Amino acid sequence: MRKRLVAGNWKMNTDLNDGFLLLKDILNEVREAELEKCDVHIYAPFTHLKIFHNSLNGSGLMLGAQNCHQEESGAYTGEISAQMLASIPVQSVLVGHSERREYCGETNEILAKKVNTALANGLKVIYCFGETLEQRESGEHFNVVKQQLIEGVGHLTVEQWQHVTLAYEPVWAIGTGKTASAEQAQEIHEYARKIVIEMSNDGVADATRILYGGSVKPGNAGHLFSMEDIDGGLIGGAALNGESFAGIIRA
Ligand code: PGA
Repeated sequence: MRKRLVAGNWKMNTDLNDGFLLLKDILNEVREAELEKCDVHIYAPFTHLKIFHNSLNGSGLMLGAQNCHQEESGAYTGEISAQMLASIPVQSVLVGHSERREYCGETNEILAKKVNTALANGLKVIYCFGETLEQRESGEHFNVVKQQLIEGVGHLTVEQWQHVTLAYEPVWAIGTGKTASAEQAQEIHEYARKIVIEMSNDGVADATRILYGGSVKPGNAGHLFSMEDIDGGLIGGAALNGESFAGIIRA
């Protein structure tokens, strides 16, 4: 039985003061009882991580970063390494979000390296994948998803898979208010789980959580999360409000 996971991706939102208030709001809303059934992660901006780590101590929520560099260290001005994150300590990192694929030129090959570097530094990884509207309309979505999975996480060992969660985020549903229907999402989640069997084995596919992301709200979360292969959500906009984020966790 896979434990549910709801992860908030704050993206480039909130300054330190507003972020701290939002975190307090979330902590007030999320009751311990809910954490027994559902893991909760917060992927905050880099600038917030140290102070958030102190505030989350003992709360049961896991803290994550939204990116790390693929190399261990060196002359990469402005970048943040996995080791730096681990030293905060942060427990998890998002890899392969579509906004980074699109705006920062992150290819599957770079993302595979990021996954390795993050895992080597003891971080957990949420690996994001998903097709654009154009790719869906031209019927390429299954192939795109397969390639993103095989090239990004196809090399992982059974041991490494224990620290990896997948997140299907159709680009056309992110921040657009257009959610994939629960059936559309389930179709890809089921397919992705089959690819995990091909890349690893049945046991890994059974144990690996696959989240859905893209305009998840308290009102649609329950239906999405009721699908067999949808194990929770990666939440953008609705994670920026304590009440709506908690509403999704309750769902
Ligand atoms: P959204 O973003 O919930 O605002 O659509 C999801 C994401 O990008 O992770």
